[in-house]
Amino acid sequence: MKTTNAQTNTNIAEIADGIYRISTPLPPNPALPGGFTFNQYLVVDDEPLLFHTGPRKLFPLVREAIDSVIPATELRYLGLSHFEADECGSINEFLGVAPNAQPLCGNIAKMVSVDDLADREAHGMADGEVISLGRHKLRWFDTPHLPHGWDCGYLFDETTRTLFCGDLFTQPGAEHAPLIDGDILGPSEAMRAQMDYYAHATNTGALLGTLAACEPKTLACMHGSAWSGDGAALIRELAAGL
Ligand SMILES: [Fe+2]
Ligand SMILES: [Fe+2]
Repeated sequence: MKTTNAQTNTNIAEIADGIYRISTPLPPNPALPGGFTFNQYLVVDDEPLLFHTGPRKLFPLVREAIDSVIPATELRYLGLSHFEADECGSINEFLGVAPNAQPLCGNIAKMVSVDDLADREAHGMADGEVISLGRHKLRWFDTPHLPHGWDCGYLFDETTRTLFCGDLFTQPGAEHAPLIDGDILGPSEAMRAQMDYYAHATNTGALLGTLAACEPKTLACMHGSAWSGDGAALIRELAAGL
């Protein structure tokens, strides 16, 4: 793990082959007294992808972290699970510095928000569609309302079996190692008990079943540590808890 900003403790670490977790700890706030983290994932490949840009106010920090691995100007895709500030707040800042970059999201997000608010047209993904970055082949899954947002969906890297699971398994707190194999379900369920960010739609169980069937080895969580282990079992445990 490398700290890329000494003031904020923004850091970057490789968590799977060619996949880097960028994380910025946030100080305590009234809603989250133990603090929080915003993570982004950089996939280094012929066509580099950033999954989540982070909020607009973190743009200089996220850019600085990317630049420690590859020039941010070379980004090709800016992936997002659903339209919220921590997912895509600095999309236009990144489009401004990376001339070949394009937002990448589900077709609902493209239609509802991204093609209006982003300065460049999005590459829309259909459920089950695969995009190749070079070595990494990423499959898109539509997961409406899981955990929230009609436009929600996830990318799964079939090459490293990494699921970019966004807000699933959100862990509170500001201090998290980049990649762990210990318990993340307990902390995330404890947070959900205080602050339920799930929509609890009727097909939540079926969608989690689809994600489990990918048999991920790494869960690239957006808040907290990334996790390594039997992803299918952990996702089914989450589904049972919901
Ligand atoms: Fe969210
Ligand atoms: Fe999030």
